[in-house]
Amino acid sequence: MPNVSRAWPTLFVSVLCLLAGGAAACDPSGGRDARPSASGAAPASGRVDLLAGDWRHLPGGTVGSGGVRIHGLGRQIVLQDGTGGQPHPPVNLRGPRLEVRGDFQVSATLRRPAGQTASLYLYGEVPIVYDEWRQNRRGLRVAVSERELSLTVWDGRSAAPVADRTASVTSPATVSVTFERHGGDLVLSAGDTRVSVPDPGVFDAGSVTFGVDAVPGAPDWTLAALEATARDGGGVAVRDTRMAGQPTQPSDSLRGLAEATGRRLPIGAAMAAEPLVSDDGYRTLATTQFSMLTTENALKPQFVHPGPDTYDFAEGDLLVDFAAANRMTVHGHTLIFGEANPRWMQQVALADRERVMTGHVRTVVGHYRGRVAEWDVVNEPLSPDDDGPDGRPGLREHLWQEAMGESYIDKAFTAARAVDSEAKLYLNEFGAEADGPRWDALYALVVRLKGRGVPIDGVGFQSHIHEAGDHIDPAVLRSHIAALAELGLSARISEIDVYGESPRVQATQFAGVLGACLSEPTCTSFSTWGITDRYGSTAEHDSYPLEPGDELPWDQRLRPKPAVAALRDTLRAARR
Ligand code: XIL
Repeated sequence: MPNVSRAWPTLFVSVLCLLAGGAAACDPSGGRDARPSASGAAPASGRVDLLAGDWRHLPGGTVGSGGVRIHGLGRQIVLQDGTGGQPHPPVNLRGPRLEVRGDFQVSATLRRPAGQTASLYLYGEVPIVYDEWRQNRRGLRVAVSERELSLTVWDGRSAAPVADRTASVTSPATVSVTFERHGGDLVLSAGDTRVSVPDPGVFDAGSVTFGVDAVPGAPDWTLAALEATARDGGGVAVRDTRMAGQPTQPSDSLRGLAEATGRRLPIGAAMAAEPLVSDDGYRTLATTQFSMLTTENALKPQFVHPGPDTYDFAEGDLLVDFAAANRMTVHGHTLIFGEANPRWMQQVALADRERVMTGHVRTVVGHYRGRVAEWDVVNEPLSPDDDGPDGRPGLREHLWQEAMGESYIDKAFTAARAVDSEAKLYLNEFGAEADGPRWDALYALVVRLKGRGVPIDGVGFQSHIHEAGDHIDPAVLRSHIAALAELGLSARISEIDVYGESPRVQATQFAGVLGACLSEPTCTSFSTWGITDRYGSTAEHDSYPLEPGDELPWDQRLRPKPAVAALRDTLRAARR
């Protein structure tokens, strides 16, 4: 009998190497110090070279011969009004993920110029990112500054760290640090200095995703080496990010059934980069069920344009490349919006706002020209207050409207069209599915835009149903889609999610709205705002762990609710 426990590290590495295919090639000949090979693969057995993976998509990172240079971006997530500010350090979402079992060790060599603090994050769970907050789950930070070595640990039960240990050191310019999970402790050492905390189970999910940070304005630091080694019967292996899902979809998936309708209607969902790379079940639902991807938060101004002269396309590119790898059309959300704007943008002087707005539109649309098929150019132009001066909502008051009045809408569409003449340009709004002042105001607005020759192609009906008793009447929605068609405009269902107290009522609502879209030839797509309650936008984010909402078709355990069957039935009924 082979000694199973002794054979385990090699077995674990080999099996994972096989699973990962060519992506993380492993050398069965064993144990030597692995360096990146020309192909970027990491030959290893029991020891893996993590820098051999993909670090090209790390925000603020630059890959060079000496390692990965880290530039401090100072990323923060602010509240809608620009106040607050939660640190949002970059995660190497597209980079190597370390699979771990039992005890292991990660060693890093950091080249740190004076005045800089080098931070390396090891995430046991990838953070969940929304546009007003980021929920850090289990993970830890290793930080090295001039005089201090520190280990900060989060256990996923609260926003605050569960432990924060520091030790005084005199760091040389190049410092090697070793982090270990060993015998129930998390231990960090550099030379003779050592700090340790009991492990609250940071890596119990079996993987480590890496992130970094640097002080903005201080000179860049360099991650010169990063390796992992199995210890005492544990195992390590590298798994690279999977961008492609299954090449074919089950014929009874939403996208499969939709492709069989006379309309071949795109079926979409708002998606986020973090769960796509870290949650296999989420990724599988994304690729099997949906043929369209809406960028949930990644292309909102706060994320994509963090500084006046800084654009950060890493997460947006991940989504767009993911969509391409899985034959999905991309709907870009959103160029201009009164929310989710970075603080600097909210502070731009009135006289400069038009220049900043059109520059933003041109740069983002230009970056994705040919890859993003359609855009929400302007999101939620109407005031949330329905009782404006003439009994209807007026324009929503925000930084762009304040500077340019209604003409900000014209200017945003004109700028987008000038850069990409092929992309379909949408105006997106909530609460216009029913008759009443919101619909009247929206209709009047698009009549004015058309009258002024604004290059608008269509209107998105968000279709959020967030209150018990609230509902969308499919016949009324159809009449609105038809009224827009009379003006030469398309429509789409852009963000549906439905209050889920009664799964039956929820199912009827999803299906009714899909039926309305299928019945109107100018309805170009049907998209939900998210896939599963596990990452739903209505989650109660102040609680740890997250307290999910119940608005989406798949529940938090990724089980389909009756809504999924109802959507399928509606698509089946529309088959050619
Ligand atoms: C939501 C996001 O999904 C959340 O992550 C965020 O915290 C708040 O915004 N209408 C829109 C979307 O157009 O941008 C909103 O997205 C949901 C309502």
